[in-house]
This record gives sequence, structure tokens and C-alpha cells, in this order.
Amino acid sequence: MADSITITDNRTGESIEIPIVDGGVDAAEWRKLLPGIWFYDPGFATTAAARSAITELDGEAGILRYRGYPIEQLAEQSTFLEVAYLLVHGELPDADQYATWVDEVTHHTYIHENFRKRIYDAFHYDAHPMGLLTSGVAGLSTFYPEAKDIADPANRLTQIIRLIAKMPTLAAAAYRFSKGQPFVFPDNDLDYPTNFLHMMFQIGGAWEPHPAIVRAMDLLFILHADHEQNCSTTAARVVGSSHADPYTVVAAACAALYGPRHGGANEAVLKMLDEIGSYDNVDAFVESVKNGQGRLMGFGHRVYKNYDPRAKIIKQAAYDVFEVTGKNPLLDIALKLEEVALADEYFISRKLYPNVDFYSGLIYQSLGFPIEMFTVLFAIPRTSGWLSHWNELLAQDSRIARPRQLYVGPGVRDYVPIDER
Ligand code: CMC
Repeated sequence: MADSITITDNRTGESIEIPIVDGGVDAAEWRKLLPGIWFYDPGFATTAAARSAITELDGEAGILRYRGYPIEQLAEQSTFLEVAYLLVHGELPDADQYATWVDEVTHHTYIHENFRKRIYDAFHYDAHPMGLLTSGVAGLSTFYPEAKDIADPANRLTQIIRLIAKMPTLAAAAYRFSKGQPFVFPDNDLDYPTNFLHMMFQIGGAWEPHPAIVRAMDLLFILHADHEQNCSTTAARVVGSSHADPYTVVAAACAALYGPRHGGANEAVLKMLDEIGSYDNVDAFVESVKNGQGRLMGFGHRVYKNYDPRAKIIKQAAYDVFEVTGKNPLLDIALKLEEVALADEYFISRKLYPNVDFYSGLIYQSLGFPIEMFTVLFAIPRTSGWLSHWNELLAQDSRIARPRQLYVGPGVRDYVPIDER
């Protein structure tokens, strides 16, 4: 049997055979046979817009690998900065490469004081930190005009290091601003997750987070580092395809991440659990979801039709954190919700399983993060994924993203002056 498909234009009887390569068929061939006939695919559910060597995801089997390494092994044995190196460079670093990478990231964590003050002070005291982060990272592009030279791979790498380094600083600054607390400068003696926790929570005096808390933070960063062509990565690629600078690219990705169907879901999960309020209300809540009154947040995924492997790891990590912080009171509601949903025909038939956001919020809350920070916590590590895709895109011979439409509006009509309408 040939590894190809044949498309026939029934209007003319003309056929074209297109080889199946790497699980896809080349749309340029389709265009040759059917000029002006567009492939209608809202939500890009059937469209591969990239050839990528970064993250492999098999949603049916529940498999996630970064550059070929199973997420379970990376979660257990690696660190976030090593994973970021792997995503950006394609290989795990040796000891020297790792030391240099960590040193470079560590020494780019500062942001200009005037910039931080002026940008963030412009916001209202209760502004959502995702608004501050998105604006802050977009504003950084004005500080690094050389970042516009996106054709130079070395320059791209410098900006990638800067962005991975500065996102925790911008994020923590957004939090401190919202609390009315003084900004805490990065401490170059601390590792990446500890430094972030330090900028978030240090208030005078000696301060040292429990090692289990630092490990949980790093683990959550690893699990959120990349997820192939999701909504925010696609936003990054689309904006990157116009050759915008990487700060603007990351700002666009942050904007896409903010929505409750994507990175905002972890925040929505906690609000949902609060709303359910008690173990006894779970059955009624699930019924209301089945009746179309809202969605079960933290459930379902465009690609996973099986348990999200990240959710499995996070669920286990939650117990490790709760040993230090005490159990999050919402855990029992979440566990019952999962049990009820996984046994219910509505969720079974639609293959709706817990996704990465279902348990992550419970950990974040127990670590002391307010729910407004949850999406910010997603954006910090995902920056390494966004920029790996951006770098990959620019290293390839990419075209500007510019889909077609099926026009369904009115035909030509004459303008009528306002007093005659
Ligand atoms: N609760 C109840 N029903 C659902 C849910 C849900 N969470 N998700 C999907 N469905 C139903 C949906 O109503 C539809 O049913 P029907 O066929 O009867 O109309 C069917 O399942 C297919 O849904 P869809 O909207 O076509 O699926 P999609 O692939 O377009 O959407 C999703 C994927 C993640 C946006 C969606 O599952 C969802 O809204 N989930 C809740 C939000 C969430 O947890 N998002 C985090 C995703 S993982 C991390 C990330 O990407 O940031």
C-alpha cells in the first residue's frame, strides 16, 4: 500500500497523489490541484503549521517528551534550567556547558530600576499581574533595540538568555507591586527557583524556603516548560513570523496564555473548587456541567485523549508539598471531582481527563501564591518553550503566518449616506 493520499477534484476529474511524510501531507500540493479552494480548519485542529524537533506529544497514549526525553525522567532527575537548555539547544548540556548557561542566566536577572518603577507604577494597585507581566515584557523590547536583529543566531541566543533570566524578576515585581510591598532584587547566589521564591516572599530577616518547596517549584517549571503547538506557542510563532523582536513575541504569547481556556485555567480551577465549596456539592456540580452550565475546569485537552502525564506527576508532587505545608483543604473536593468525572459516561465518552492545571493550582496555593499569580507561574517556564520555537522557526526558511478565510459576508453593495438609511 502506498504511503500517500489521492485527492480528486470531482468538477474536473483531475487527481493528485500526495505522499504522507512524517505523518502529514504537503498543503502546497493541494494548492496546485485546487487553487482558490481553502482547507477550512477553525482552531487548526487538523493543521500542522510547523515542522518541529522540540516536543513530542502523543495524546492518545498520554506521552510527552522534550527532545526525545520522557517528561517523567526529566521531572525526576533534571532541573528547570537544564531542561531550558535542552529545549533551546536540542541536547542536554555537559557540566561545563551547564555551568556557563546557569551563570549567564543568573547574571541577566536584573531589570532597569527606572523601567520597573515607571512601568509598574502606572498600574492601579489591584491590577492583575498577567497585565503587568505582559506589558512589562513588551516594554523590555525598547531597552534592547539590538534584539531586532533576529537573523543573527548568536544575538537570538543572548535575548533568549535575557528573557529566561528576567521573567521571574518581572513576575515577582508584579506580585510585590500588587501587595504594596517593596521590590526585592535578584540574589545571584541563589539558584533559579530559590531566587524566584526569594523575590516573591522575602520580607526582612533571615529567610530560607524548605528544600521540598524549592524542588516543587522547579518541578512545576519543568512540567510547564513546553507543550508543542499550543495556543500561546502558536501566538509566539505567528508574531515571530512577522520578524517582530523576541520581547514582543513573548508578550504576544503571554497574552494568549492569559485566557481561561489556556494558562488561565489553573486560576479558574481554584475559583471552581471554591465555588463548589464542599465535598457534598460535587455530584450536583458535575450534573450542572453535564447540563451545559459551564465546564469542568482543569479537564479536557485538544490533544490528550488520555490522562495528561503532567497531571499525574503534579498530583504526586502535591502530596509531597502538603507534607510540608499541610493539606490544602480543597484537595478532597478535587479528588472527589476527579473520581466522579472519571466514572461518568459524559466525560468517558468525550475522553475528558484531568490536565496539567487540575492539581497545579492546589500546590501553588499551598506554596503561598495568590490565585492571580497562577498564570504568571505558567508563563515563567513556558518562556523557554516559546523562545525555543521562535528560534527554531527563524532558523528554518519560514514564511509569514497568513491563513486564508472563507468569505461568508454580503456581496457588493452601494454605500448609502447616513440620512438615507
Ligand atoms: N468540561 C465539560 N465538558 C467539556 C470540557 C470540560 N472541561 N472540555 C470539553 N468538553 C466537552 C465539550 O462541551 C464538547 O462536548 P460536545 O461534543 O457535546 O459539544 C467536547 O467535550 C469537546 O470539546 P471541545 O471544546 O471541542 O474541545 P477542544 O479541544 O476545542 O477544547 C479545551 C479543549 C482545553 C479548551 C477544553 O477541554 C476546555 O475548555 N477545558 C477546560 C479548560 C482547561 O482546563 N484548559 C486547560 C487546558 S491544558 C493547559 C493549557 O493548555 O493551558
